[in-house]
Amino acid sequence: MENLRIPGPTPCPTSVLEAMGRQMINHRGPEFGQMLNDITAKLKQLFQTQHDVFLLTGSGTGGLEAAIVNTLSPGDKVLSVSIGVFGDRFASIAQQFGAEVVPLKVDWGKAADPNAVRQALQADPNIKAVLMTHNETSTGVTNDLAALSSAVKEFDKLLLVDAISSLGSIDLPVDEWHCDITVTGSQKGWMVPPGLAMVSVSPEAWQAHSEANMPRFYWDFARAKNYLERGQTPWTPVISIVFALSVSLDMLLKEGLPSIFARHARVAQAVRDGVKSLGLSLFADEKHASNTVSAIAGSNGLDINKMRKILREEYQIVLAGGQQQLDGKIFRIGHLGWVTEDDIKAVMSALKVVLPQAGFGSVS
Ligand SMILES: Cc1ncc(COP(=O)(O)O)c(C=O)c1O
Repeated sequence: MENLRIPGPTPCPTSVLEAMGRQMINHRGPEFGQMLNDITAKLKQLFQTQHDVFLLTGSGTGGLEAAIVNTLSPGDKVLSVSIGVFGDRFASIAQQFGAEVVPLKVDWGKAADPNAVRQALQADPNIKAVLMTHNETSTGVTNDLAALSSAVKEFDKLLLVDAISSLGSIDLPVDEWHCDITVTGSQKGWMVPPGLAMVSVSPEAWQAHSEANMPRFYWDFARAKNYLERGQTPWTPVISIVFALSVSLDMLLKEGLPSIFARHARVAQAVRDGVKSLGLSLFADEKHASNTVSAIAGSNGLDINKMRKILREEYQIVLAGGQQQLDGKIFRIGHLGWVTEDDIKAVMSALKVVLPQAGFGSVS
């Protein structure tokens, strides 16, 4: 079996995979209804919210699109606080649907500054909503969402959060931090294959929904709510993944949120200590280094693609490369979901041998 250490899809426990081998059931029947209600209640615990949570069949990007089209109208101004590839994607979706995007750019590898958000909101009172990434998977940075949210809420703006690679792995109390829409995806810390986006919706987001008129059909939260009241989803759901999620949620709740967060913090620290002890350095500002994905800078003659190829072919260890302008410049180790220190030890032992084979140390 491969040691799949990319930041999603993540490896799935055997019991989760086995759940997907079940025969289909009627998605408009009582068994599915009971399962959906049970999953929704458990997700609320993991999102730390009292408000609505919906399962949407689609990938994380679908959830981001849902956040936009359910709360905004063409011409609405949004502040995009982007710290990497996925922050830019969130802004592109808003732009595509006709929002006027005001960018607040942050150097890749750094976290967003709450004071810069304050200034941007002060400078433009017409901004209606703020788009924010909790954990930027492309750079390995976790924003201080509590502080950023406080800045946003001083101005009483809607806060739409991409928490795709953090929720369920890094603490994110959705209600306490006033996140109006929070989006995550099944293939990340949830230990489930890709196929489901999960979103929370606050009362303020519902208020925005009632006025928003961007085109929406498949993603309409009103339809999702209406059907959930009957234990259904509006459209045929990805039933096998729902079976899988039902098993993984029980595992997550059994471990408990504090233990999950502590395990991710411990494993992430082992990654950071490990790469530094090999002479590598983090790409991300260490004060904001993510507990689910580490981005490591290429240096000293390291050929990242060669290193990844040797790791994959000879050690069955799969690491991620950099995206867009970071291609060939960084590599990333995913450590979210079903992961322990032993998985990381295997990566570090292999890296120790492979780094010099891939040119590391040939140039100082
Ligand atoms: C932070 C973040 N946002 C958005 C996405 C896009 O999710 P998907 O590929 O499931 O559409 C990802 C996936 O890697 C992500 O990590």
